[in-house]
Amino acid sequence: MTETSRIVICMGSSCFARGNKEHLPVIEQFLAEHGITAEVQLCGSRCEDECALGPNIAIDGVWHFGVDRGVLIDLLNHHFLDTAEM
Ligand code: FES
Repeated sequence: MTETSRIVICMGSSCFARGNKEHLPVIEQFLAEHGITAEVQLCGSRCEDECALGPNIAIDGVWHFGVDRGVLIDLLNHHFLDTAEM
């Protein structure tokens, strides 16, 4: 995890309907459960012009496309837990 990490979740209509509606509370719950809500800036995006690839989520500037729940949990675990324990 970088000093101030940032998650951007696309909440445009396409990404919202494809899964980010459900992904937002998953992210919020993950941050709360691990006590890192204050260290991670969680932002919404209106659209990233990659609607066909959605749902899209960026972590520290790297966009991940076609994110499903399992991939999201893997990304969160890898980015915020694995690296924090190194
Ligand atoms: S709605 Fe997410 S990229 Fe367009």
